[in-house]
Amino acid sequence: MSPVRPAAVVVLAAGEGTRMKSATTPKVLHTLAGRSLVGHVVEASRRLDPQELVVVVGHGRDQVTAHLSELDPAAVTVVQEQQNGTGHAVRVAVDALAEQGREPSGTVVVVCGDTPLLTTATLAALVDTHQAEGNAVTVLSAVVPDPTGYGRIVRVIGDNTVQQIVEHKDASEAQRAIAEINSGVYAFDGKLLREALGGLTTDNSQGEEYLTDTLTLLREAGHRVAAVAAGDHREILGINDRVQLAEARRLFNERTLEAWMRAGVTVVDPATTWVDVDVTLEPDAVLLPNTQLHGRTSVAAGAEVGPNCTLRDTRVEAGALVNNATCEGAVIGPKATVGPYTYLRPGTVLAARAKAGGFVEMKNAQVGEGSKVPHLSYVGDATIGEGANIGAATIFVNYDGVAKHHTTVGDHVRVGSDSMLVAPVTIGDGAYTAAGSVITEDVPHGAMAVARGRQRNITGWVTRRRAGSPAAEAAAAAERRTAQQGAAGDVQETAGPTAGQVEASNKETDQ
Ligand code: UD1
Ligand code: CA
Repeated sequence: MSPVRPAAVVVLAAGEGTRMKSATTPKVLHTLAGRSLVGHVVEASRRLDPQELVVVVGHGRDQVTAHLSELDPAAVTVVQEQQNGTGHAVRVAVDALAEQGREPSGTVVVVCGDTPLLTTATLAALVDTHQAEGNAVTVLSAVVPDPTGYGRIVRVIGDNTVQQIVEHKDASEAQRAIAEINSGVYAFDGKLLREALGGLTTDNSQGEEYLTDTLTLLREAGHRVAAVAAGDHREILGINDRVQLAEARRLFNERTLEAWMRAGVTVVDPATTWVDVDVTLEPDAVLLPNTQLHGRTSVAAGAEVGPNCTLRDTRVEAGALVNNATCEGAVIGPKATVGPYTYLRPGTVLAARAKAGGFVEMKNAQVGEGSKVPHLSYVGDATIGEGANIGAATIFVNYDGVAKHHTTVGDHVRVGSDSMLVAPVTIGDGAYTAAGSVITEDVPHGAMAVARGRQRNITGWVTRRRAGSPAAEAAAAAERRTAQQGAAGDVQETAGPTAGQVEASNKETDQ
């Protein structure tokens, strides 16, 4: 029998999560692998393709509802004003649907909003078994090393169905010895669920309506109540505090990396590599140690990222090398190189074989094919053509304190070291700028722009003004050596520039 599409998935997310001890964030909005806890559960549930996906919210409802409307606009949120227990939460959800005439009649799946490791495959297998066995309810169980705190599955000896679930607080010593626990995930027959919810009481140690009591009610009414154990008990790990959050994050990451490695990605050090759930990697991509890939980052075949990289929403194209870099919203073209110690901010686009080298920061900058910004520069709000070279310590001066302005650098431009390009400004194709220039006016194609003070040497200044200093002594010693060499008939050439060189350099700097 092929499984029937579930009528509804109900996600319970109204609880406070006091043990997270957060003043700002409801429990289910804490994140791992770039997605909220409830986001993971909603995503896994959505892939079951239910007719209705309902999330029960309560604590932090405004934040949670706003988050859900972005994440999955088709999901329905239902408010549980007071957290009177898991059974009450499901009742509120089912009643809300019924009020709108959308009462679920087929299989209703209930999951908790704080179990981010739960997979669609496990949920689908639960639904399959539930429908194939014709159960009134099928609970997903797990055998765990430490069952403390969980509800225990009390099985009927002989036929392997479930007698009841006993909450830890209500359990006897003998029941507490049971290692099979309730994961908090169930598949119900929708109609029978509604009937059972009507019969719940608060007659227990926590004074709450326990969803688990529906199992007893359904069994007593003569229906089949069963449990299926999850293949991997870690999948049902619920997050109650930040220690469990870190543990789940690690497990989730291990799972993600394992899948990528099996798909052909090299991960040199899985223990220090973190890859968000929406990241995409191609076979033969290489991730070196201490690398974090966030958001919608992608790394293409043959590209190498790391060590020590943090990339967010960044596209790394085939064969690119990114080393010791922080990149956000950047595109790194084929065979481009980035790093070390490089910061690429949103809007940076490096074309093929472009380079953003050591101690370079870029923002909203298009760097053309093969162009290089090798050292110690800031490139902001700029377009650089092909084959250009931006000398060390060049600053694109884009901000006048009020507004940002754009700089355009043409093809095959050579910007001299330590240039300030004061935007808005355009450097024409093939133009040069002299080192140390402050460029405030456009430079025509092919021109050499020189914009700096002319050098003046005040000879003998140190001897006069710093007499007796080590500098003055060094200068005096050099003078004595020069005098001796002159006396020995040595030629000048090794001591300074030739007359020809002086002439050439004067020409270059003449305006
Ligand atoms: C519940 C189960 C327990 C199971 C455990 C698995 C019951 C009575 N017990 O216990 O058998 O082993 O989950 O993690 O169901 N919630 C609401 N509204 C409420 C109460 C809870 O939305 O009024 C939500 C919580 O936000 C949470 C989930 O339901 O996502 C589970 O609630 P929680 O209080 O954590 O249940 P446990 O006591 O852990
Ligand atoms: Ca509880």
